[in-house]
Amino acid sequence: MTKEINDFTFYNPVTILFGKQKIEALPDLIPADKNVLILYGGGSVKRFGTLDRVKKALPHKKVGEFGGIEPNPTYETCMKAVEKIQSERYDYLLAVGGGSVIDAVKFIAAAATFEGNPIDIFAKGVGKGQPITSALPFGTILTLPATSSEMNSTSVISFKEKKAKVSFSDPHVFPVFSILEPELTYTLPKRQLANGVGDAFVHILEQYLTYPVGGMVQDEFAEGLLRILIDIGPRVVDETHHDYNLRANFMWTVTIALNRLLSVGVPGDWSTHALGHEVTVLNNTDHARSLSALVPAMMVVRHKEKWDKLVQYAEKVWHVTTGSEEQKVEEAIKRTASFFQSIGMPVKLNEVGVTQADVDTLVSQLEARGQVNLSERGNQTLDVSRSIYEKAL
Ligand code: NZQ
Ligand code: ZN
Repeated sequence: MTKEINDFTFYNPVTILFGKQKIEALPDLIPADKNVLILYGGGSVKRFGTLDRVKKALPHKKVGEFGGIEPNPTYETCMKAVEKIQSERYDYLLAVGGGSVIDAVKFIAAAATFEGNPIDIFAKGVGKGQPITSALPFGTILTLPATSSEMNSTSVISFKEKKAKVSFSDPHVFPVFSILEPELTYTLPKRQLANGVGDAFVHILEQYLTYPVGGMVQDEFAEGLLRILIDIGPRVVDETHHDYNLRANFMWTVTIALNRLLSVGVPGDWSTHALGHEVTVLNNTDHARSLSALVPAMMVVRHKEKWDKLVQYAEKVWHVTTGSEEQKVEEAIKRTASFFQSIGMPVKLNEVGVTQADVDTLVSQLEARGQVNLSERGNQTLDVSRSIYEKAL
């Protein structure tokens, strides 16, 4: 087993504007001659006045709107936006929303300039996995901290007919800028706040809970961010508690959690995400809830491969420093589940409507997407994934 930090190139060009009244800086961010299309979700940005602020801030002659991007955004909806962009000649996109809107805009930006059938931007049995060579420029205004989509180059899209949820990543779909106003989180309901804390927690785990390579920087960052989420999580999910610094720390922790800084030089797992996506395909479970429902089972089933890091996680994140290694690991798994429960997140698949009768379907969905060699060592076979699903019931 290697004990060396892997070579890496780290590139992240996203300009972050963080703080109060940053939407008003839009004229400095989007060139004056651009035709701007604002894209948003099911209407929260209309209800809470964010869309009005955005429109008021934009001095551009031509500004259009495309609403109705659903949570777990679909290819079908995205392609309607592509049609509008091409027929009405927009050349700058502005995503206003959570991870779903931002992910959708990444794909739309790439599809609008793609030569060929945009479905081929995706691999994993959905399309041909062709590289993109350009995308329309876009910025984002984040209304729900959860995915880090605002500071990474990944997009996850759902395909209704093909019953698939597949991602693509490409440097062309980094946002040009992202506006992070912690006060925009004040309108979030408890469930979405918990989703944000939970998703970020699992993002950090997927980049940390693998095997040690002596990556002190990545390990300390990951452990620190996990401790912050454990500390502030229960207060963040109190939707009535509008404490600026609490929400600011929440928002920034979540963004850093998957801007890929934690990934460089160290192994990554991502199997919980792969398994979770299939749960969402099955019954539309919220992304973050599909993950928390699997994490304790994943830790139990794969404890041998993750042993050293589980011990480190117990000691550094949960401050469990006495007892045998076995006791430390057991305690860390227990505390992880209690933490999720304390913020109202499920820790079992039956809490998100999955039963034993669904396991075959979930495993065959994984197989159809080629997700047969998952995890940090590529040795998580379908049998191991089945065990995790079954253990999580
Ligand atoms: O649609 P509207 O009406 O805007 O309501 C949304 C939506 O119903 C609501 N909401 C957002 N901001 C709000 C608000 N409600 C009140 N006040 C606000 N300020 O919240 C609901 C959920 O929004 P959504 O964008 O779906 O949530 P999230 O940010 O959790 O995004 C989930 C999607 O991101 C993907 C997931 O798979 C899922 O499709 N992911 C993307 C990743 C990436 N790009 O790197 C990584 C993640 O692991 C994840 O897979
Ligand atoms: Zn996630």
